[in-house]
Amino acid sequence: MINKETIDRIMDATHIEEVVGEFVSLKKRGANHIGCCPFHNEKTPSFYVSPSKGIFKCFGCGKSGNAVGFLMEHEHYTYPEALRYLARKYNIPIEEEEMTQEQKERQNERDSLFHVSEFAQKYFADLLFNDEMGRAIGLSYFHQRGMSDEIIKTFGLGYCKDQWSDFTDHARQNGYSDQVLDKTGLTIFKEDGKTYDRFRGRVMFPIFSISGRVMGFSGRILSKEKQAAKYVNSPDSDIYNKSHILYGLFQAKNAISKADKCYLVEGNVDVVSMHQSGVCNTVASCGTSLTIEQIRLIKRYTPNVTVLYDGDSAGIKAALRAVNLLFEEGMHVRVVLFPDGEDPDSYAQKYGSTQLQEYLATHEENFVKFKTRVLLDDVQNDPIRKTQVLKEIVHTIALVPDMLERQEYISQTAFKLHMSEQILTQELAKTMAGNAQRAWKEENRRQQQAQQQQSSTAAQSAEPTPNLPPPLMPDADDYDLSPIASSHTAPVQILPTQHPAEAQEKHLIALLLNYGSRQVSIQVLNDNDEPTEVMTTIAEVIVDEVCTDELQFDNPTYQRIFDLFRQSVYQQQPLPDANLFAMHQDSLLRNTALSLMINAYSISKQWYEKKHIAVPQIDTHLKEDLDQSILTFKQKKIDQKLEANSFQLRECKNDDDMMILLSERQHLTNLRKTICDKLGRVFA
Ligand code: CTP
Ligand code: MN
Repeated sequence: MINKETIDRIMDATHIEEVVGEFVSLKKRGANHIGCCPFHNEKTPSFYVSPSKGIFKCFGCGKSGNAVGFLMEHEHYTYPEALRYLARKYNIPIEEEEMTQEQKERQNERDSLFHVSEFAQKYFADLLFNDEMGRAIGLSYFHQRGMSDEIIKTFGLGYCKDQWSDFTDHARQNGYSDQVLDKTGLTIFKEDGKTYDRFRGRVMFPIFSISGRVMGFSGRILSKEKQAAKYVNSPDSDIYNKSHILYGLFQAKNAISKADKCYLVEGNVDVVSMHQSGVCNTVASCGTSLTIEQIRLIKRYTPNVTVLYDGDSAGIKAALRAVNLLFEEGMHVRVVLFPDGEDPDSYAQKYGSTQLQEYLATHEENFVKFKTRVLLDDVQNDPIRKTQVLKEIVHTIALVPDMLERQEYISQTAFKLHMSEQILTQELAKTMAGNAQRAWKEENRRQQQAQQQQSSTAAQSAEPTPNLPPPLMPDADDYDLSPIASSHTAPVQILPTQHPAEAQEKHLIALLLNYGSRQVSIQVLNDNDEPTEVMTTIAEVIVDEVCTDELQFDNPTYQRIFDLFRQSVYQQQPLPDANLFAMHQDSLLRNTALSLMINAYSISKQWYEKKHIAVPQIDTHLKEDLDQSILTFKQKKIDQKLEANSFQLRECKNDDDMMILLSERQHLTNLRKTICDKLGRVFA
């Protein structure tokens, strides 16, 4: 929406060292500026900024880019957000293309809401430190709660006088309209024409956007009177939506990125207290129970969340709920429960920051430990209750998107509950199939609805919309080897072990099924034949490698699964997923796919164990595993071709054919040698 000319003007005005300098302390060295890299932890600076080239580069972690790239990486801005930030910094008016009059008005209105919020925050903070009443009541309250002036300033805390309309009067005098005061909820307008301050007599916690603009407030009562709510929050408005906001994120985001971990607490004061105790990667979902939008905010910085809740029953309940939601979003979740009746703030006040940090480090448990502990506490030996607990835990495990992680949790649960892994795996398979089936039904219903809507709006009605076909039809007679098709002959069960390349084929298919949509970077040659890195998906890599060399799977079921992925990749459709396989008509295909997705079968478990790496950390090694699997698969296939070639050579009676076979043999041998080299194996 920002036009090209404006972008050029912004980029021309931008001095990268000034932009980076706001976040990193830089020293001039020769033509460059250098500092400690904000993207990884280092003590000696290897982060270079070149004003003349307009770029930064870290020789430690390899990150590099221009000013826009820096903002996107460091502040997690989108591209237009980064441009707007620079435009504001360098006073470049943005000419928004294609903005309708209505959009412009809306933009102006949002701006005015931001303005009055910022004005209010400054006023409340000023009262806290410079007004007699503010100091006596507000500041002394914060001090009494153990907060330093420094931390109070970091969080921009303030005080709203205990008078009917002190703030409103002040804002009106400064030209703010009743409309914006109403929309932000700072002022309450009664029907009888009376107005009063929403937050009167409260200490103020401003709520900042990711880029540090004030969007709203949370005000805490000072008196102990029970009839008024302890916290009052800004109402939702054009700039404030409580379920999309995390308290403290602005102050915590860099620490979260750096620690690659986020602590999630329940209250505003807990956030402030944790920060003051040196645990700056902490946020709270203020005034709501955790939402998916809030989780996605955290996900921009890290996949690792540790939930810190009060150990009372309400806290445990909230933690259980949060854990499920976090899992569904694919986060890695851990839990720390505080002793009954304590929250992170009260704990820090009682025992100090060192003890708090130690408590966090020693009481973090993964969710299986947490759930089995809290749920089993009151089960004792009641088998029925135990079964309920088990189902409850398996239900959560089924939400984990990563297969290896699921497997790890199953093992741990089996150990904790003294049960066999096999039974748990079966229960898991059942739960997942049930989930998938429900999801598919839901999707079917949704699509049908959409189609009905379409056809009812269309002028001439087409044929009646049939039920959606089950996700997939096997390609008719491609695979007459399948046990079903050949069942009229001898009842040969094609067991996996009958194929010489079974292990390699299975491994590759398991990768496709479980990690097909994962992004990996691969090296390709560009137009100038230079190697460059590009991002692609695992499915694309596998499909490409297998198809380029015209390789086939001996196991017909694997071939069919592969073909489904190939079709999706070629047609750039979403990849087949658990839902699709769970509902597949062909039971052999369905069972094979699901068991590779669910079962105890784990990719390269041995490989990880051999290297003494904890199995679930697959991400870092996925690329290596992928390369290995493809190469091993190819090697096996080439061996098969070589074998066939030997056979043909032996049978061959004709010189010309012999030459062809020999040259083919030469080609295959060379290929095999290359692959063995890559695999680091002795060429035999
Ligand atoms: N909360 C709210 N409205 C209330 C009560 C609570 O919005 N009437 C939100 C606040 O964000 C609060 C959080 O829920 O921080 C947790 O509430 P609670 O545990 O009661 O308070 P604490 O955070 O412990 O607050 P304090 O330490 O100030 O007593
Ligand atoms: Mn508290």
